[in-house]
Amino acid sequence: MNINTNYENLEQSYLFSTIAKKVNEYISNNPDKKVIRLGIGDVTLPLCKAVTEALHKAVDEMGVQSTFRGYGPEQGYDFLREAVQGYYKKHNVELELDEIFISDGAKSDLGNILDLFAKDNTVLVPDPVYPVYVDTNVMAGREVKFVDANGDNEFLPGVNDVEKGVFPDIIYICSPNNPTGAVYNKEQLKSWVDYALENKSVILFDSAYECFISDKNLPRSIYEIEGAKDCAIEFCSLSKTAGFTGTRCGYTIVPKNLGKLNKMWVRRQTTKFNGVPYIVQRAAEAVFTDEGQKEIGENIAYYKENAKLISDTLKECGIWHVGGKHSPYIWLRCPNNMKSWEFFDYLLNNAQVVGTPGAGFGRNGEGYFRLTSFGSKENTIEAMSRFKKLFK
Ligand code: MLT
Repeated sequence: MNINTNYENLEQSYLFSTIAKKVNEYISNNPDKKVIRLGIGDVTLPLCKAVTEALHKAVDEMGVQSTFRGYGPEQGYDFLREAVQGYYKKHNVELELDEIFISDGAKSDLGNILDLFAKDNTVLVPDPVYPVYVDTNVMAGREVKFVDANGDNEFLPGVNDVEKGVFPDIIYICSPNNPTGAVYNKEQLKSWVDYALENKSVILFDSAYECFISDKNLPRSIYEIEGAKDCAIEFCSLSKTAGFTGTRCGYTIVPKNLGKLNKMWVRRQTTKFNGVPYIVQRAAEAVFTDEGQKEIGENIAYYKENAKLISDTLKECGIWHVGGKHSPYIWLRCPNNMKSWEFFDYLLNNAQVVGTPGAGFGRNGEGYFRLTSFGSKENTIEAMSRFKKLFK
């Protein structure tokens, strides 16, 4: 037996596992301190009423012979695919049902999709970015090239930022961006789409945070851009949209215009995946009803208020930051020129507030730090008052 030695090229543990371990150690050494977690982007509000009602109903159906369901379609039940199709239509995007694949979340599919691509593809990843893109490619032994996201390009790298001589086959884009909260406008995305079409590359577009976009002119889906169906796969999730981080459901769009990829994805999923549980798919369906949309809208507004509170506090403290407007994440420059992990320790030890060190998202994240607005309002207020004590 030979192991996959590519794993030796990874950081020793996944970013959020490293943070959890450090925080747990701190808590066991300081049991009297109240730690506030604004690190991992995990939601705190419960599932909305429309969703829990759908869950209860589906559970009851599973306990009755005539409505019990066993294996479902690997690509998802039509009732949910139709709901997703309707959601896209609202944003003027027409999708065929067999371009929509129900998944257990964007993270899994962002990794799984790599089964479709040869090992010798060149991969282009913005730096900083969600670490899953890099780690999954490193596991497969694929070489990753980076395109710099920084203050100069407002954390939105464009095609002109790609290093000369690099011809990417696979391009990752995350908008609204994790971790910086930056959002591409239509013109900027169009230039990536044109670039991909010209270079015959595929864009893997992560739209997990689309529901936080409040400006109607900003694209929530890459398919709002002409030509994108010929070059892009889109990943979305109900984790942040509807509090499904523990419930697990998302969707991936593989357009049929992408030649073999749609059929290959069907082949992959039917072989390696048995679909999302029926009860979870019924819960997800409820998210797309009028009632569900209204209820999740209230939750998103709650998180946005937290984001505003964080942003206002940072302003008061004179700490440079972006994000938080069309995103649950606030991206700040560490005060006093601290390095990311140094600031992480400083904040944990002196304010008992947990955030995510920017360096964990890539080289360009060094010196930056991410806070999430997914905490409870009470904890966010408390965390910000601790911030003021330290930095105002
Ligand atoms: C994050 O904090 O970046 C996300 O919660 C991670 C994820 O969605 O997997």
